Amino acid sequence: MINEPSDTAYPENSCNERTPDQLLRIIFDYTAKIANERSLGSVLLLMANMGREMILADRCTVWLIDRARGELFTTVAHGVDEIRIPLGSGIVGHSIATGQPLLIEDAYNDPRHNAENDRRTGYRTKSIITVPFVGNDGSNIGAYQAVNKLTPNGVFTTHELEQLQLAASYAGKSLESVMLHEEIMATQREIIFAMGEIGESRSKETGHHVKRVAEYSFVLALGCGLSADEAELLKMVSPMHDIGKVAIPDAVLQKPGKLTAEEFALMKRHTEIGYNLLKSSGRELLKMAAVVAHQHHEKWNGTGYPQGLSGEDIHLYGRITAIADVFDALGSDRAYKKAWELDRILQLFDEERGRHFDPRLVDIFMEQLPKLLEIRDRYRDFESNERETGRH
Ligand code: C2E
Ligand code: SIN
Ligand code: SIN
Ligand code: SIN
Ligand code: FE
Ligand code: FE
Repeated sequence: MINEPSDTAYPENSCNERTPDQLLRIIFDYTAKIANERSLGSVLLLMANMGREMILADRCTVWLIDRARGELFTTVAHGVDEIRIPLGSGIVGHSIATGQPLLIEDAYNDPRHNAENDRRTGYRTKSIITVPFVGNDGSNIGAYQAVNKLTPNGVFTTHELEQLQLAASYAGKSLESVMLHEEIMATQREIIFAMGEIGESRSKETGHHVKRVAEYSFVLALGCGLSADEAELLKMVSPMHDIGKVAIPDAVLQKPGKLTAEEFALMKRHTEIGYNLLKSSGRELLKMAAVVAHQHHEKWNGTGYPQGLSGEDIHLYGRITAIADVFDALGSDRAYKKAWELDRILQLFDEERGRHFDPRLVDIFMEQLPKLLEIRDRYRDFESNERETGRH
């Protein structure tokens, strides 16, 4: 909806420039929306729409710098898909490199213009305003670019350049904070997944354990009514549940047979070790991962470890991961046991409903079983594959 040209919402006046009242209303409306947005794509689109409406351009684009690839890119350009151009190229690249805004009457008379996209899309770029964005620390983060003034003479005025600078200064802070937030979340996702894989390889658990537990948790989370965002969050943190196993000696972790009482006591510490590894992080994702590492062996009836929590004192994410983990552990070969048949697994979940596991979650588990089995098939381990085919 925000993609619609809303000249109806902010009707233009006869001289094709906004009145101060209109400008204020546009800035006020958009900056309020932008400040509440957490997703980069939405912020960029709102900013593009704000710029376009303020100065009545045909298109408005927010360009960002991709330093890793040495490119400028835009995900929202009115009427076009993502565009990438080499860093420093085009009028926009020049403006970013020099930190100077530019007002061009006809791009085709300017040797700096990069006309490649016009050739590809058939669009005729004429007038351009480009205003660079500078971050809090003074570094370049990108640029605002308005293309083609919607008036018969089709050129922008210096007044409009100033207005776009105003828009850039209002929205720039929100843009930077959303970019930082996205970067932090992406970093956390990478760390979490890498750590989960370390835990998995140390305990020699079969290939896709971490991946399957993540997918099972996601399905169960959706099944109990969590939003897609929250299910996604749990999917990211559940692979970390056994990270504490990194500190358990191989002799215990990979013991082919049943553990002695002392060995099992040592093994149980993986919950607290994982919790302690993660808990001091101030990051939302790592904090959730800490709770899951801590609580995934708690039992609904209070007989689990390490804290002996019961019922809803166990965080929902811990209760969900417990089901995902045991379902996967039982269905997989371990150093100490062979995989169980599905019937036997289902019987255990039935018996442990309201004992080990949250009864409501067992019902959801049963409802979602077809999806869970589909995941199990999709991420089948090589070893168990071999074992199964060897059986025929
Ligand atoms: P894991 O192999 O990932 O198993 C996770 C959980 O799945 C277990 O938590 C348990 O609740 C369930 N589970 C797995 N296999 C069986 C089984 O054969 N029977 C039943 N009833 N439940 C099963 P638990 O018991 O707290 O164990 C935590 C971890 O301790 C296990 O993670 C595994 O790494 C290790 N472990 C437990 N028992 C033994 C053992 O006898 N030998 C060895 N080598 N390791 C063990
Ligand atoms: C483009 O729209 O592809 C870039 C135009 C330019 O800044 O030269
Ligand atoms: C385990 O093997 O993971 C402990 C539970 C059991 O031995 O039945
Ligand atoms: C924990 O005890 O595992 C963390 C505390 C919490 O649930 O937030
Ligand atoms: Fe565990
Ligand atoms: Fe596990």
